Amino acid sequence: MSEKWWQEAIVYQVYPRSFQDSNGDGVGDLRGVIQRLDYIQSLGVSVIWLNPIFVSPQIDNGYDVSNYYAIDPLFGTIEDAEELIEKAHQYGLKVIFDFVLNHTSDQHPWFQEALKGPDNPYRDYYLWADGKTAGQLPNNWASFFGGTVWEKEPAGNQYYFHLFAKEMPDLNWNNPEVQLSMLDIATFWMDKGVDGFRLDAFIHMDKEAGYPDVPNIVDGQIVLAEEYYANLPKVNHYMKNFAQALRKQYPDVFLVGEAASANIDLAVNYSDPLNEACDAVITFRYFSEDDTKKDVRLPLTMQSGKLDLKAFKATMSEWQDRLGDFGGPTLYWNNHDMARAVSRFGDVIHYRDNSSKMLATLMYLQKGIPFILNGEEIGMKNLEIPTIDKFEAPEAKGFYEKALALGYSKEHILRELNATSKDASRGVMQWDDSVFAGFSTSPPWSGVNQEADYHVAAQEADEKSILNYYRKLLNYKQTPLFTKGSFKLIETNDQLYCYERTLGKQTALVCCNFTDQPVFFEDERFTEENFTVLLTNDFNSLEGKLGKLGPYGAAVLVFGTDEENEPHEENRISVF
Ligand code: NOJ
Repeated sequence: MSEKWWQEAIVYQVYPRSFQDSNGDGVGDLRGVIQRLDYIQSLGVSVIWLNPIFVSPQIDNGYDVSNYYAIDPLFGTIEDAEELIEKAHQYGLKVIFDFVLNHTSDQHPWFQEALKGPDNPYRDYYLWADGKTAGQLPNNWASFFGGTVWEKEPAGNQYYFHLFAKEMPDLNWNNPEVQLSMLDIATFWMDKGVDGFRLDAFIHMDKEAGYPDVPNIVDGQIVLAEEYYANLPKVNHYMKNFAQALRKQYPDVFLVGEAASANIDLAVNYSDPLNEACDAVITFRYFSEDDTKKDVRLPLTMQSGKLDLKAFKATMSEWQDRLGDFGGPTLYWNNHDMARAVSRFGDVIHYRDNSSKMLATLMYLQKGIPFILNGEEIGMKNLEIPTIDKFEAPEAKGFYEKALALGYSKEHILRELNATSKDASRGVMQWDDSVFAGFSTSPPWSGVNQEADYHVAAQEADEKSILNYYRKLLNYKQTPLFTKGSFKLIETNDQLYCYERTLGKQTALVCCNFTDQPVFFEDERFTEENFTVLLTNDFNSLEGKLGKLGPYGAAVLVFGTDEENEPHEENRISVF
């Protein structure tokens, strides 16, 4: 396929509320991001993804948009957005915006018009159904945020559809007017210089016609119905029309779709260039956990579990194999919808630095596009949210009630929620040791972890910090061996994750230990003279053909040379 700029991109996700507050109101904003552009550039990333910043009642932190053509005053003004785009470009950084395609806010003028009745021209912008009989819901489908997907209109008899909160009605993509309106918005922001979009929840743009009940469900029960509202065939059709029209004007636009429940077949389908839909997708299907100890009466994803390394390896290598040629899978451990990986899969008590570095090494040197959530580059861990009323996610509240009713103690439930909930990942950026970690001069909108060694200022000054490790890693990630090299998973035990990247005569061996115990790895090549240690974290050593990876150890060795990608002389050491 033809080469596209985004195939070698490294994306830094900025959660604007939590990144940097410039006006002292406790909420991060666009001027804050502008102030930190030099820091972002210094990481070696090439793209900023900004979570939603358009005008919104903030029922779901901006994913409920009431005006797509203006910036929410919480975050700044349209001039700030223009300045951010322009300055980011001066720094050599591209900018992608979060674009919510599937739904709007109920405060959006289209929906306010639609509520006026069946004859209103905007009625058909949304999805409506009659109850089965008077007072009965149209069907038994559940919303992702709990309860039914249906909400009765206040002044009429019909119900409107909402897959998320009831304040977030779903758009009717079957209506050509909707398609044109959404294209207009994308074009408006492209005209302002944006380089692409992260397309929120696009896999839900189509719903099963006639809204059939999920069969064999007890009367009155509401159940998730993904087969009726996720990944339906018309999604591709809508996306293709949208993407084709946008690319006609902007051939270089980068479209990364959020495809939470997409398996590999769907991901290939959505990102195959021949289908002309997304360029890449973000799935939530990488991280299989050992669910055997979980309570099946409660949502499994909200109970903590250990990563099932065997399943994870199999999934990742399949995604590498099948998506590698399209520019690659997206590579990430974190985003604003999940707890922080170092708290989930690393060890924040004994081996926080080593496990942070190991996770980054494992993930980002694979083929594909890294997506790094702000703060992971300094090893930011989950927040500790003390009481249930401080959780924002409606799912967290639902889980709490249900677990209480099943007899779990409050302490246990809060521990689980702190380990798994998305709220735990949204803590503010830790810049320095001043009040509120340098994020703001006022108490932040969310929690703040103030820790002596885990802030940018401390880590800038420490050559061995997680931050400086990320910089080195991302520097290597940009070399041809890691952007273009082939990928091969190495068969090992289920404590290690090892793979090779090969380009021409050069091969990188990436070896990571996923446990808190030392693990040995044998390789005849370790006895050769001709290799380079590109990267290593702590507690690793090499003796003869035996490499020892300490707890959460990670090492990257390069064998052979390549003229275009000559290893650096200073790294040519034989013991790490
Ligand atoms: C996915 C977003 O990442 C999440 O934060 C949001 O709640 C839903 N889509 C609804 O827009």
